[in-house]
Amino acid sequence: RETDATGKYVLPGLIDIHVHSRDPGPTYKEDFFHSTQAAAAGGITTVFEMPNTTPPTNNVENFRRQVANLTSKAHVDFGVWALCLGHLNNEDIPALHEAGAIGFKFFWGYAINKKTFQLTYNYKPGMNDVIPPFSDGEVYEIFQTVAKTGDVLAIHAEDSSLIQTLTEKVEKSGRRDYDALLEGRPNLAEEITIQMALSFARESDARLHVLHVSTGEGIELVQQAMAKGYPVSAETCPHYLFLSNEDYSKVGPILKVYPPVKYKKDQERLWKGIADGTITIVSSDHAPHTAEEKAGDLWSIPAGMCGTETLAPLMLNAVNEGRLSLQKLTALLSENPAKRFGLYPQKGSLAVGTDADLTIVDMNKETTIKAENLHSKSKVTAFDGYPIKGLPIETIVRGETVMKNGEIVHSPFGRFVTSNQ
Ligand code: DOR
Ligand code: ZN
Ligand code: ZN
Repeated sequence: RETDATGKYVLPGLIDIHVHSRDPGPTYKEDFFHSTQAAAAGGITTVFEMPNTTPPTNNVENFRRQVANLTSKAHVDFGVWALCLGHLNNEDIPALHEAGAIGFKFFWGYAINKKTFQLTYNYKPGMNDVIPPFSDGEVYEIFQTVAKTGDVLAIHAEDSSLIQTLTEKVEKSGRRDYDALLEGRPNLAEEITIQMALSFARESDARLHVLHVSTGEGIELVQQAMAKGYPVSAETCPHYLFLSNEDYSKVGPILKVYPPVKYKKDQERLWKGIADGTITIVSSDHAPHTAEEKAGDLWSIPAGMCGTETLAPLMLNAVNEGRLSLQKLTALLSENPAKRFGLYPQKGSLAVGTDADLTIVDMNKETTIKAENLHSKSKVTAFDGYPIKGLPIETIVRGETVMKNGEIVHSPFGRFVTSNQ
């Protein structure tokens, strides 16, 4: 019937390049079985798994084990990020490239636990068993090392030493509200880190990808670099596009994420960055923690929230609100990531025949995001109760339907993908 086809579109399968599934650990927060069900439910056909797991993907042995582990649970196809740990693993980088890392991630400004290689944001001098954040010179060596592989170097761009110093002053004043957190000047921390990253990328020829840009200052810098022809890409996430500090009173401490959600003026600048092509990718930064962990004081709770299931619905809703075109959404969520990470045209394109990845969307379908209905283990989202018009209604991976009308209808058969360049 004609009415059934109204508002329905077939898109190339959507790709979420930024997912923390906590698998092989800490799986009490999330695991790959659940995160890829959530992805499929949200119209995503490929996810890239982040490397800050326990153990992290910092060497070939861990990387190969991770690929096998994820393969057994994957409802959608997946790439795997490798972790940069400076002098601790620079010599592992070429082999991680050979093993098929989709790219390398460096958490700028994070300290490292010596025993577990886990990353610690809140570094204070004298902390036991912790390697302090790297010097600028050592960070530059990471850029040089990854540049030689030709792979993308993705950075978490926040100089935490600056934030720490300023935040301690605010802490002493006893304030614990969200704007006190922003007085740690995370805008400035993002700006100076992106500035340095762009200079390092220019000098080393690294293919820089700036993860989760959250500030106007950051976007300005990326735009200038692009105008000069640097091979840089930039990403933002729905929480930066649809939320600001003004939402804290409504959303509460679960809003906490790194980088923090900033001011309304940043949000507006990010939308401008989408319109003018500075932002090339939108990802979820799916980073689940349990409801109990997220329930405490803003200062002490972990940063991150669920996102892969709500990424496409929120962006489709924005299409219906006239904030971007469906064509632009397809570029940001499928074509651009596929091209940037060497998956095109097998992914990110409609032109590959019967074993294509496809996301079918119904632009007229209305719903409300309900935390309790999420497929991830943790249900923590800042978008509980958010009204949506426009929804993925079928997710097809290599010709097989994985999700139909919100139901997961396939057992795990997702494949590990590597860049074809
Ligand atoms: O909020 C965040 N959560 N930011 C990060 O960079 C890491 C992530 C996590 O793994 O929890
Ligand atoms: Zn990050
Ligand atoms: Zn992340």
